Amino acid sequence: MSFRAVKGMNDILPGAIELWHELEHAFVEAARRYAFDEIRTPLLEPTSLFVRSIGEVTDVVQKEMYTFERHDESLTLRPEGTASAVRAYIQHSVHAKDPVTRWYYKGPMYRAERPQRGRHREFYQAGCEIFGDPGPACDAELMLMLVDLFEQLGIPNIRLLLNSIGGSDSRSRYRDALVAYLTPRKAELSEESQSRLEKNPLRVLDSKNPKDREIAAGAPSTVDLLTDDDRVHFDELQAQLRALGVPYEIDTRLVRGLDYYSRTLFEIQSEAGELGSQNTLVGGGRYDGLVESLGGPKVPAIGFAMGLERILLAMGSREVPRESVVAILPLGDACTREALLLAREVRRAGYRVDLDGRSNSLKSKLRRANATGAAVAIVLGEQELAEGRVQVKNLTAHQQLDAPRAEVVNVVAAQLTLAAAQKGGS
Ligand code: HAM
Repeated sequence: MSFRAVKGMNDILPGAIELWHELEHAFVEAARRYAFDEIRTPLLEPTSLFVRSIGEVTDVVQKEMYTFERHDESLTLRPEGTASAVRAYIQHSVHAKDPVTRWYYKGPMYRAERPQRGRHREFYQAGCEIFGDPGPACDAELMLMLVDLFEQLGIPNIRLLLNSIGGSDSRSRYRDALVAYLTPRKAELSEESQSRLEKNPLRVLDSKNPKDREIAAGAPSTVDLLTDDDRVHFDELQAQLRALGVPYEIDTRLVRGLDYYSRTLFEIQSEAGELGSQNTLVGGGRYDGLVESLGGPKVPAIGFAMGLERILLAMGSREVPRESVVAILPLGDACTREALLLAREVRRAGYRVDLDGRSNSLKSKLRRANATGAAVAIVLGEQELAEGRVQVKNLTAHQQLDAPRAEVVNVVAAQLTLAAAQKGGS
């Protein structure tokens, strides 16, 4: 019997990981420039944290959580990062130290969804959350950061979709209007939507059922029922986006699948990467009531999370240049002892060194060095060892020279420069 990774969960191997590093580095660098600090929270949280924040009548909580009991406590693998960030924010009384807090995070999330292209059961998110500032400039800044990041990553044809569902007053007005619209059509709705109509009518708008979607298309729009304050926030956000030259589309059907949102909701989608229905790269929005509803102070907040697998698909495959390697090839035990020291010296000088200490022939060591793309090989045989020399082979420029043992680091530096020039010129 052979083992395979759990369905919907993926290994990321060398060859693929380089593009992940590029993406993660670009995200962290953008977060740095926008003054976000990193947080790391546990992968496991009490189940009730997600039920209370994401909402009992949501797909994530009803169908997708990995939940188990341990030590009489129900635990869940985090399906997203916002609930954990809010829990940590409250637990460490962060609001008492600074009125505005900007956090970012990245890491794996878990949802037992049906796997398909761009949808996995273990997937990586990178996200930002801002606590303590109710103003629309936060909303605009997050969107600007993302639009600039995607441009830098070369992702074509992105669409920023925007909506506002308002605060609790607007939402209860909207809820009433939606119930009034849906109730006479109840019999035509799917069974699931009929039950959602009772418990959480907004979720009916999330339904994938074609008939439900048809009915949802005629539903009243959230934007028409905003209170004056909510409308001012939404209008100012749009004015700011226009001032920044960030294109957006208002999508009044955008409700998103999590219950904690208030006011601004947004998504970034892209047609790149053949993602089909999984083309939402980023989801985000305000959650001005969540900190308080989880037992913390009354602190407004907004954030987003992006799915790294989807962004990588949208970026498309591309060659990421790999760092040159110096191969050290000792021939025999005494030479291997010396080679260990030599490798340490070259590594201390900052180079990437692959010591091939296998007891095989020089020919097969060189074959591997060439196959792994080593730029320079240092050969150390009995004779070189006795004479205090090494043989340096430039595998890119196809040259060979003898060098004093003491000069190895300088010679390696010069040969790597030569190899890089040769590679650039070829
Ligand atoms: P979300 O819309 O559930 O929002 O997820 C955000 C993004 O994570 C999606 O747009 C998608 O790119 C990615 N994603 C979600 N599920 C999967 C999956 N099964 N496979 C691959 N990628 C997936 C949130 O999680 C909120 N916490 C975002 C947020 C932060 N709102 C405020 N702050």
